Amino acid sequence: MINNIYDDEVPQVVTIKETIIETPTVKTIIFPWKITDDIHPGQFIMVWDLNTEKPMTISIIDKENNLMGITVRKAGPFTTNIYDNINKGDKIGIRGPYGHGYDLKKYKKILAVGGGSGIASLAPLTSFYDNIELISAASTKDELVFVDRFKNSDIDVYECTDDGTCGFKGFSTELAEDLINKGDYDIIIGCGPEIMSYKLYELSLKYNIDCQFALDRFMKCGLGICGQCCMDDTGVRVCVEGPVFDKEQLSQLSEFGKYRRDASGSIVK
Ligand SMILES: Cc1cc2nc3c(=O)[nH]c(=O)nc-3n(C[C@H](O)[C@H](O)[C@H](O)COP(=O)(O)OP(=O)(O)OC[C@H]3O[C@@H](n4cnc5c(N)ncnc54)[C@H](O)[C@@H]3O)c2cc1C
Ligand code: FES
Repeated sequence: MINNIYDDEVPQVVTIKETIIETPTVKTIIFPWKITDDIHPGQFIMVWDLNTEKPMTISIIDKENNLMGITVRKAGPFTTNIYDNINKGDKIGIRGPYGHGYDLKKYKKILAVGGGSGIASLAPLTSFYDNIELISAASTKDELVFVDRFKNSDIDVYECTDDGTCGFKGFSTELAEDLINKGDYDIIIGCGPEIMSYKLYELSLKYNIDCQFALDRFMKCGLGICGQCCMDDTGVRVCVEGPVFDKEQLSQLSEFGKYRRDASGSIVK
């Protein structure tokens, strides 16, 4: 039989095994998926609610039980439908995984910073590496995600809230700079609001440390075809060359930290 080279490009319909309400706006969905060695933290999948398709980071990579998970924050129609209406036993379509994840093999001590739903991109690293210190940041205690999951992991987690209701009071970038001044990290990695990633990128320049950040751009095909997610001047496609970029790549991306584009291609600051 000829192998179907399009396997990754056709949604596979899966039945949801479990859902976890993480916060009043965030929900995790777990479904069966054959976890192969080429699936890495930082990659994303296209999720089809049998109506619309949207990109979502892989938040759970469970090799032992062949399970995958995504963690969705209510933002608009698609994510609200998933949060409110899609439960255990329901079916969704998945294609992927796509893009480049974090490449951390050569680093001895890693500082990871997750802000808001960006923490979903970093969470699977806890089952791949134990040389990570993780800042888990949110605006307030009730919006901190994966608190129990991180307690049960082998890594050190620093909680951080803007309003000081849990852990460090202030922005994750301030806590990151405190830790960099005390630690000897080889790399800073992160995912969250782009302003956070950009400030961490500036810290990586200031302290001469490597960095890798996951970027979020409007995606339609997820396959490198439509050009919707291209970064200005470079034509780099976030869905193919990213979503995780290293320091050298980030230095070439003129719109990083400045603006993004909506579904029509118009600039959004
Ligand atoms: C690589 C990648 C990984 C992502 N991972 C997650 C995740 O793990 N959890 C999560 O909750 N969200 C994630 N997102 C964002 C998520 O895809 C959008 O929030 C979602 O598409 C919003 O759809 P909506 O109909 O609920 O909201 P809308 O009202 O349509 O949009 C809300 C916001 O999401 C942005 N958005 C809408 N459609 C897209 C799209 N097709 N591609 C990118 N951004 C879009 C809009 O520009 C707007 O800022 C990811 C985005 C990318 C690019
Ligand atoms: S989403 Fe179509 S090229 Fe990236």
